[in-house]
Amino acid sequence: MKKTVLFLSAAVLSLSLASASAWAADAEAGKKLAEQKCTTCHAFGKAIAKAGKIGPSLEAGIAGKPAGKTAGFAYSPAMTKMAGEGLTWTDENLDKFLTSPKGFMQGTKMMAFPGLPNEAERADVIAFLKTLPTP
Ligand code: HEC
Repeated sequence: MKKTVLFLSAAVLSLSLASASAWAADAEAGKKLAEQKCTTCHAFGKAIAKAGKIGPSLEAGIAGKPAGKTAGFAYSPAMTKMAGEGLTWTDENLDKFLTSPKGFMQGTKMMAFPGLPNEAERADVIAFLKTLPTP
């Protein structure tokens, strides 16, 4: 009897470990991080109401989209140039930009943001960005 219980809890444990790695990026955690780290400058719409206007609004969704297209926002020449060359916010580009904005884009107006050095945190924030509406 005792053995069965042990076996069962081991099975449950390994199952939850397996699902933890399958769902490594956590959009809920990413939303909390974005609230702390991004809303000084960015709006995320209904997901996060409180927001500053130093950066372009990201409320229409940004993941997978061409860079530098928010109407009415004065992007840096650096962003305008890379956008003109076809920069799109793929997971990879978001990851690089969020690691070090000015490392990825010298002259970006997002230089006041030092970046998110933690890979898991970046993955969570990117997972959150993907939940935003993509018309
Ligand atoms: C200090 C203000 C500030 C903070 C904090 C900040 N950003 Fe930005 N962000 C900007 C500015 C300004 C731009 C426009 C950059 C340019 O024109 O070079 C920008 C641009 C962007 C873009 C490109 C948008 C587009 O239209 O192509 C993304 C994506 C982005 N930020 C994501 C984030 C995320 C995610 C966070 C939090 C982890 C964050 N930013 C934190 C100011 C900030």
